[in-house]
Amino acid sequence: MARKKTIRDIDWNGKRALVRVDFNVPLENGQITDDTRIRASLPTIRYLLEHGAAVILMSHLGRPKNKVVESMRLAPVVARLAELLPEAKAVKGTQATTGPSVEAAVQDLKPGEVLVLENTRFDPREEANDESMARELAKLGDVYVNDAFGSAHRAHASTEGVARFLPAVAGFLMEAELAALQGALENPARPFVTIIGGAKISDKIGVIKNLLTKVDALLIGGGMANTFLLAQGYEMGDSLVEPDSVPTAKELLEQAASSGVRFMLPTDVVIADAFSADANRKVVPVSEIPAGWRVMDIGPETVRAYSEVITGAQTVIWNGPMGVFEMAPFAEGTRAIAEAVAKCPGMTIVGGGDSVAAVEQMGLADKIRHISTGGGASLELLEGRVLPGVAALNDAE
Ligand code: 3PG
Repeated sequence: MARKKTIRDIDWNGKRALVRVDFNVPLENGQITDDTRIRASLPTIRYLLEHGAAVILMSHLGRPKNKVVESMRLAPVVARLAELLPEAKAVKGTQATTGPSVEAAVQDLKPGEVLVLENTRFDPREEANDESMARELAKLGDVYVNDAFGSAHRAHASTEGVARFLPAVAGFLMEAELAALQGALENPARPFVTIIGGAKISDKIGVIKNLLTKVDALLIGGGMANTFLLAQGYEMGDSLVEPDSVPTAKELLEQAASSGVRFMLPTDVVIADAFSADANRKVVPVSEIPAGWRVMDIGPETVRAYSEVITGAQTVIWNGPMGVFEMAPFAEGTRAIAEAVAKCPGMTIVGGGDSVAAVEQMGLADKIRHISTGGGASLELLEGRVLPGVAALNDAE
């Protein structure tokens, strides 16, 4: 994809920057439990403030289904942002996303100040990418900045529509995410290895198809490996399998064989006699899964084989856990893969909520070169899709 203009290409002095961020953070009883996404937007906000702009931020939070949901207001985010940005002259919120009260607040906003608009998804026009909402938002700023990589796969009024009515550039987070992920996909240092896990093959067919045209090795783990093993004729006991996806799994195995990509599946697995942390468990080869037992994790022989490929790679992308890692007895495969990725000396990228959580829980986040803030967005990039929020930005000359 063409390189996009960024906030470095604009003279911000005295301008109003209308910035889409992804502040879709997890909340429990009104408290933010992980502020990574807020912190990830700080370099862009700081740059804009330091260069003389007034900053207007827009974000969605959760899925309020086109109406005001009190528990999804952005007030806790505004409070957290104020703590993280002591240098801002003010950090204020609004009660509405567009309309006269917001326009008045924007009129009052001075360079060095930040205004956070209320949850964009409270307005039914947001997800419909309605032009009237895009125009109302565009009126609030002089230049549109998209720093919401995590929402760039959504063609909504605040991510795509608004970019048609203002000069539109990428923020630093968007730039870094695209440089890492697109850079790896378009021009990887080799060997290029991807590790794909997670429960279901049906969620990641497009990703696997696209990666098979690019990588040197594709390592499969998690529940989705079961369907590939079923397609190869193994008995899977009570394991999670998707019988409807067996023909697709066979096609992907054939595509891998004919493209010369090393397609690795588990050779041994940790199985349990119930889906529970205190179930009986044992390690068996994939050819010996008894009736009544289910696969819960990859086994030690698989871990060794995968780790060797990962540590010998120059580019690694990992998306999706290797087993039921939220249950401690079945977290070992995911932990070992996280350690192998952390040891790899090349470019390492981790995306997707569960694998990012695993890396963080294991204290390995600072050993990964790029941790993506976008789950769905990074998967769509891996599928080779164009992200509408990126396509809408102005091309660099
Ligand atoms: C995410 O959390 O992946 C993004 O914020 C997008 O949220 P959505 O899946 O509700 O569009």
